Amino acid sequence: MTTPDPGIVTGADVPPTAPAVRVSVAVVEGDVPVRQRIMGLLGEGVTPFETVEELSSRLTGAVPVVAVLGPSCAGEDSLAVAERMMREYPLLACVLVVEELTTTLLQQALRAGVRDVLALGGESGALAQAVQRVAISLDHAPRGGMAAPALPVEEPSGPEPVNGKVITVFSTKGGAGKSVLSTSLAVELARRSDKPVCLVDADLQFGDVAVMLKLTPHHTIVDAVSVLDRMDAPLLDSLLVTHEPSGLRVMPAPLEPAFADQVGAAEMVAIVELLRSFCSYVVVDTPAYFNDVVLGLVEVSDHVALVAGMDIPNIKNVKIGLQTLRLLNTPMEKLLLVLNRANSKVKLDVGEVERTLQVKADSLIPSDVCVPQAVNKGEPVVLHAPRSGVTKAIQQLADKFMVDDRSQKRK
Ligand SMILES: Nc1ncnc2c1ncn2[C@@H]1O[C@H](COP(=O)(O)OP(=O)(O)O)[C@@H](O)[C@H]1O
Ligand SMILES: [Mg+2]
Repeated sequence: MTTPDPGIVTGADVPPTAPAVRVSVAVVEGDVPVRQRIMGLLGEGVTPFETVEELSSRLTGAVPVVAVLGPSCAGEDSLAVAERMMREYPLLACVLVVEELTTTLLQQALRAGVRDVLALGGESGALAQAVQRVAISLDHAPRGGMAAPALPVEEPSGPEPVNGKVITVFSTKGGAGKSVLSTSLAVELARRSDKPVCLVDADLQFGDVAVMLKLTPHHTIVDAVSVLDRMDAPLLDSLLVTHEPSGLRVMPAPLEPAFADQVGAAEMVAIVELLRSFCSYVVVDTPAYFNDVVLGLVEVSDHVALVAGMDIPNIKNVKIGLQTLRLLNTPMEKLLLVLNRANSKVKLDVGEVERTLQVKADSLIPSDVCVPQAVNKGEPVVLHAPRSGVTKAIQQLADKFMVDDRSQKRK
């Protein structure tokens, strides 16, 4: 390509009030077909380079540049050059694209200061979105000098800090409906809030939030933990996957149960605390037992929704769960009792369950075939069956969390 380096040498001034961000984009890849493939994902106005050294020789430091490093730059040497360049030029940020994403590679790249790492064959649009996110953060970095015509990206609505509410959905019984409830509640809150809402899958061994929302995660909570020492809100944000139909941001569980023990209570709490700094709600799905991670989550949560099914083993286990929470001095005002399948034609009635648990139910969710149907389609039930009784019950539960909340768009 013969285009002069847009923005790397000269360019037009951008008034401080410009509605769009102007940041140059470079693609660095020695393999021509691969480079063309990457450029095809980014659209017009992108400058190609063969090596990081070549890019380095052309930088002036006067304009912000996002460099998309291709798979040929994933080696130690190229990453070291990229790291030096980024240190020398604060207005340069790199995103790495690889053929296959591994945790080791992600760690190496993030440690070198690369902002995001994506697989080449991943979700369409993911690379352009990552470049846009990085471009916005660069454009907000303090600088003097000039900017050039290149990638117009939308201004963010303003990264004001928020102290979001943390809602942990817990039950001492598997199959009680925690994942169904947490996914739909989070989606419902995401649709109502104009700030980000995040769902964290803290069922670290058998988490199925990603499956229930039909997501293909690039990163999981294990990746977040592996770079916790240099974690900040933009980096954490870049590790989340978006549920496109609702805008919900999701932090998926590890892909394999063996990775679960890499996430301890302190790490989980640190991630949730950082998420609540830019999300209006952080909903957390959990496993069916108390462990350190769950106890840490209960402690930092504003609300704990305790889910119980309508049978004797469920009620027995929830009673034990409640006693445990009382022993741990969990403030009872935090707890909400959710009775799931509350209309089931079984011998228990709601009053009887409430008397046994000595707690009044805050939410009654009916049993409905639309729930397993939604689960099998990978859709949250509030979107799959918007008029069902289950959706209405989940919306009423969401109303309880939205009291006094100014970030809501609509009910
Ligand atoms: N209200 C309901 N009506 C019908 N089926 C339900 C309902 N709630 C949950 N289920 C079914 O129970 C199964 C287990 O729910 P899930 O949320 O995965 O439980 P948990 O996460 O507590 O183990 C789901 O696959 C879903 O089909
Ligand atoms: Mg579950």
